Amino acid sequence: MALLIRNGEIVTSSDRYQADLYCEKETISQIGKNLQVPAGTQVIDAAGKYVFPGFIDPHVHIYLPFMGTFAKDTYSTASKAALIGGTTTFIDMCVASRDEEPASAFATWQSQSVGKSACDYTYHMGVSRFDEKIERQLRALVNEGMASFKVFLAYKGAFGIHDDELFKTLRLAKELGVITCAHCENETLISELQQKLLTEGKIGPEWHHESRPPQVEADGVHHLCTFAEMHDAVVYIVHLSCQEALHQALAARSRGVRVSIETLIQYLLLDKSWAEKPNFEGAKYVMSPPLRDAKNQEIFWKALQSRLIDTVATDHCPFDFATQKTMGSDNFTKIPNGIPALEDRVNLLFTYGVKTGKIDLNRFVDIASTQAAKLFGLFPKKGTIQIGSDADLVIYAPDSPSVISATTQSVNNDYSGFEGFPLAGRPEFVTVRGEIAVADFKFTGVYGRGQLLRREPSHF
Ligand code: URP
Ligand code: ZN
Ligand code: ZN
Repeated sequence: MALLIRNGEIVTSSDRYQADLYCEKETISQIGKNLQVPAGTQVIDAAGKYVFPGFIDPHVHIYLPFMGTFAKDTYSTASKAALIGGTTTFIDMCVASRDEEPASAFATWQSQSVGKSACDYTYHMGVSRFDEKIERQLRALVNEGMASFKVFLAYKGAFGIHDDELFKTLRLAKELGVITCAHCENETLISELQQKLLTEGKIGPEWHHESRPPQVEADGVHHLCTFAEMHDAVVYIVHLSCQEALHQALAARSRGVRVSIETLIQYLLLDKSWAEKPNFEGAKYVMSPPLRDAKNQEIFWKALQSRLIDTVATDHCPFDFATQKTMGSDNFTKIPNGIPALEDRVNLLFTYGVKTGKIDLNRFVDIASTQAAKLFGLFPKKGTIQIGSDADLVIYAPDSPSVISATTQSVNNDYSGFEGFPLAGRPEFVTVRGEIAVADFKFTGVYGRGQLLRREPSHF
């Protein structure tokens, strides 16, 4: 059914203006004042509300076999959580382990997602091994629209890639014009430091940070950027967490390396003291790279507003406290890594970024939607409000306070890393290609309506 959104304040990464939006056949077909529309058109009155393009989370783990267990969400629970929080598209990491192949990983991820998601999604294709067969499969998958790769410099033996394979992956990425996302940490340093700490009897979650200090991440970033430079390949550093790593990425950028930078909402609002909570509570806050010293947060907010950092994602990866985080109760290296945030990223960024004046509204849209669309081949179908774009829209109530709680979240987990955090605003209505999926703050979407988005290579 056609939809009119009237009287809202439209906010994109570059503009702010009052106008009506008319959506037909899944896309935005008119933008203007006092639009006259056919009788029977569904109408949302957005007076006093912002109208944002649907938000995009470029780094989530929905289906993920990892560290001896599985991330807890399904495409149904995750897409509901995403939509309630204003995210209308997410990009999952489709990661084969080292003994698997990308084609079979793609089939597995499809078996988890098709018919289940209420919002649109796509995959970064993990490369955890590289040989001729895998190269053929990657070429075929890029042809099918999976136009981005993901490599891990950490997690050797699971997803981690060897240096000669990294070299060949980036060469292929350059040839095909795809961007390569990378988890940057020096694996050798991590395993040596982990062994040292365990030998000293340092087994609790509070030691996770000491096993992966900032230098370990900075070294990983330098390593990736050096390899990218050899091919003039385009790279995207996922979950950058600290000033030391930021300096390495910016140094590479200043010498011409084509590198984009993602940070996470967790690093902006939580610090390493959360992982030091007593009674193993800190395990809820174990992720990699680890939560850092609080001094990094101000630096990162400024880097976001000044466009040094490109995107804010979540690396959403829920593991419950009761049965999964406790797998590491006597050894922090066995705590499944991850802090979920898909449902809350947009509201947290709005509350603690926009409302506090750390970022402006346009930049908020940019870092949480538009930049991801541009980097990953979704723009202007996604990531903006213009005629012809998908009618993925967030009608946002800026003064609608709430408090985050695991008891009310849609994410399938027994805790929230942001428990008790007050929120200033939230999405009142959300549309997915013109259909209302959140109304009056409640999920009304349709599981299975979400589509796999096919993307063209665009980084030659
Ligand atoms: O701790 C994290 N980040 N868990 C998810 C896997 C990854 O490294 O992205
Ligand atoms: Zn990672
Ligand atoms: Zn991740």
